[in-house]
Amino acid sequence: MFASALVIALLQQTPAEGVDWDKEYGVEERVRDPETGEYPVDPYVEDNANAGAEPFSGDRLAAAFGGREGIARMAERTVEISESDPRISGIFVAHDTVRLKRTLSEQFCYLLNAGCDYSGRDMKSAHDGMGLTTADLNALVENLQQAMREADVPFRAQNKLLSKLAPMSRDVVER
Ligand code: HEM
Repeated sequence: MFASALVIALLQQTPAEGVDWDKEYGVEERVRDPETGEYPVDPYVEDNANAGAEPFSGDRLAAAFGGREGIARMAERTVEISESDPRISGIFVAHDTVRLKRTLSEQFCYLLNAGCDYSGRDMKSAHDGMGLTTADLNALVENLQQAMREADVPFRAQNKLLSKLAPMSRDVVER
């Protein structure tokens, strides 16, 4: 009686060797692409229409943002400021900001007609299930304004970009 209880107790405590617990519980290991540093995303169809609006025409607006490079720096800076903004940093640390810096740069560059295609997902799928609020949106817009001010983008040009993005809030804010 005592011996069998002891055997059961020992069996229970013996760690199961060779068990792949990640597989057992369906935990998938995400691996960053060695070249881009980005995590893979589920397949989707790339299309400029995913950028959420038609681009501006002409090249004056793009020039006001410092061209393609200026736009990329400003978009990346917006993400950086947001990553260290206590109001919304929690949302960003849980996601792939390496990819976001690239796709946000592409989106802004495409919309400002600075010669890029947008390769990211549409606004609804990109933010689906994140439960974003109007307060989150306001915080992000403030950070974008800060990044544009730091880059000396003229006020009128800043407002042009903001007016392009504003209607997209319908697809982004969920509560
Ligand atoms: C009109 C407003 C917004 C625009 C134009 C916008 C733009 C974008 C773009 C272009 C992407 C990349 C999609 C892709 O990688 O395929 C994205 C993803 C993302 N956005 Fe936004 N966004 C907006 C609002 C917000 C707000 C308010 C937050 C949070 C405060 C936010 C947080 C994120 C995060 C964390 C991702 C990464 C999602 C993932 O990789 O799973 N966005 N957004």
